[in-house]
Amino acid sequence: MRILVTGATGTVGGALATQLAETHHEIVALTRDVNRADGLPASVEWAEGDFRDPERLRNALSGVDRMYLFSDAATVHTVVSAAADCGLDRLVVLTSPVDGTAGNPVKEAVRASGIDWTFVEPGPFAMNARDWWSYPIRHFGAVRWVYPKARIAPVHEADVADVVATVLLEDGHTGREYTISGPESLTQQEQVAVIGEVLGKEIPFQEISPEEGKELLMSHGVPAEIADWVVATLAQHVDAPSVVDDPAERITGRPGRTFAQWVAEHADDFRPGP
Ligand SMILES: NC(=O)c1ccc[n+]([C@@H]2O[C@H](COP(=O)([O-])OP(=O)(O)OC[C@H]3O[C@@H](n4cnc5c(N)ncnc54)[C@H](OP(=O)(O)O)[C@@H]3O)[C@@H](O)[C@H]2O)c1
Repeated sequence: MRILVTGATGTVGGALATQLAETHHEIVALTRDVNRADGLPASVEWAEGDFRDPERLRNALSGVDRMYLFSDAATVHTVVSAAADCGLDRLVVLTSPVDGTAGNPVKEAVRASGIDWTFVEPGPFAMNARDWWSYPIRHFGAVRWVYPKARIAPVHEADVADVVATVLLEDGHTGREYTISGPESLTQQEQVAVIGEVLGKEIPFQEISPEEGKELLMSHGVPAEIADWVVATLAQHVDAPSVVDDPAERITGRPGRTFAQWVAEHADDFRPGP
């Protein structure tokens, strides 16, 4: 079987392509620029393609049976119609709660494609801790952030990749929508404390207002509507009840990776350096 992995130079797609390379299937990794593409096992074939360029996309999709697609509302129609033209029989789509408030254009386009589909919707990635907090921890040894008591269950990107790999390879997931969170619920302050434990130092947490939080995210390049969504989501999760199940484990049979494990794997990102 030939499987195309989109976003293969990114976090989830990279982990997925690496995992699928261990199977006997032909794995194709999509990138807009093969000259910059790197970091996957040699058995993975790179293919150049851009969601905005249907012609090149069809070349990349030629002969492909199944595809992992990360959601992009602006291009989903182009991508799924190219996939349908190329005769794909399964799409596993990473959806996002940010995709749309009135209906979800990504889900609607995929449902209308005529191709078997499964949606995997991860909650906030553990990787956000690096995007939001590594700079202040490296440079100031402290964090300024919103809603210290907001509880979320950060999901390790490798667990998202595990779920997607399972759904791509196994039968029985067609038409299902899986929401994936991490195995434990932690407040923002507890997450920062975990980083401190791994680094062996205390990291002060200074609470800032929602408006300051939004500005902070936008100063890291986060688009305004996503910054709004992040802050609003955290507001909803202040003192929210803990997650009691482990969705990734139900699908893959393996317990989800903890936040402490993710921090241990990325500890150098939080240490002062050049
Ligand atoms: N952060 C969170 O908490 C969170 C939670 C849930 C879901 N998500 C979603 O998860 C998805 C995947 O995230 P990620 O972190 O794995 O991705 P990522 O690391 O941000 O990488 C983005 C990937 O998109 C590819 N790409 C960008 N524009 C493209 C285009 N026009 N055509 C083809 N490929 C294009 C890039 O490939 P090249 O540059 O090689 O072309 C790159 O591999 C995103 O949609 C994100 O919104 C995030």
